Amino acid sequence: MSMSYQSHEFRSRCFALVPCAGVGERAGAGGPKQYHPVAGQPMVAHTLEALMGVARLEAVLVVLSPTDARFESLLPGFESERGWVARVGGATRADSVLAGLDELVARGAQPHDWVLVHDAARCLLQPAWVERLIAACDDDEVGGLLALPVADTLKAAAVDANGRPRSLSTVDRAGKWAAQTPQMFRLGLLRPALLSALGDPDAAARITDEASAIEALGHQPRLVPGDFENFKVTWPGDFALAERLLSTRGPSS
Ligand code: CTP
Ligand code: MG
Repeated sequence: MSMSYQSHEFRSRCFALVPCAGVGERAGAGGPKQYHPVAGQPMVAHTLEALMGVARLEAVLVVLSPTDARFESLLPGFESERGWVARVGGATRADSVLAGLDELVARGAQPHDWVLVHDAARCLLQPAWVERLIAACDDDEVGGLLALPVADTLKAAAVDANGRPRSLSTVDRAGKWAAQTPQMFRLGLLRPALLSALGDPDAAARITDEASAIEALGHQPRLVPGDFENFKVTWPGDFALAERLLSTRGPSS
C-alpha cells in the first residue's frame, strides 16, 4: 500500500452545511430572501452552484425550514448524490446549524470530518475562496473562517432622544476582523461547542457564528483572508449589488 493511498484513505472528509431557514426580515423582500431572484436565479442557487464546484466537498447539505414549500420547485436539479436537503431548520441560525450537524451524523459523518458552514445569503461565493480556506485549515488543530481585516473606522453608537443614531466614541479597529463564511470546524468540536452555547440563554444571543461558539470553549480559530465580494445579502439594496457583481463576472471566475 503506497503512502499516497494511505493518506487519501485516512484524510478527513469535508461536508458543507448551508443554513437556509431564515425569514429575511431585514431584506424586506416580502418572503425568504434566499429565494429572491438575483441574476436570473433564486439567490441560493448561486450559493449552491459555487459549493458544488468545490471537488473536495463530499456533499452539500441544505438546511431548510420545516415549512419550506419552495426549495424543490425552485431548484429541481439540486438533490443528488452530493446534494442533500433536510427540513430541520430552527428558530435561530445556530439552531439550524446544530440540527444540520445531527443530520450529517445520521448520514455517516464522523467526529474528525470537517464541516464548512456557509450562509445561503452569501451568494457571491467562489469555489477558489473555499479551496483557500480548506488548504489553510486542513492541518489545523482548531479550524478557521474566511474573514477580512476591518478597513473602516469603527463607531460605538447610541440612539438620541429623537431616535437618531449618534456616535459615542471610536473603537480601535487595529486587530479587528469582520467574520464571513464558510467557517470550517471538525464535527466533533463544533457540535459540542454549539450545544454548550445554546444551553445557556445568555450565551446563545452572542453566538452569531460558529467561531464564537468555538472561542467560548477557549479555542482560537484561524482567520483566513476572504474577499470583499463575499458579503451577506442583508438589506434591500444588497440584491442589486449582488446582481451587478454576478452578471459582470467572467465565465471562469
Ligand atoms: N438562517 C437559518 N435559520 C434561522 C435563521 C437564519 O438557517 N433560524 C440562515 C439564513 O437563511 C441565512 C443565514 O442563516 O442564509 C444567515 O442569516 P441572516 O443573514 O440573518 O438571514 P435571515 O435570518 O433570514 O435574515 P434576517 O436576520 O434579516 O431576518
Ligand atoms: Mg437572521
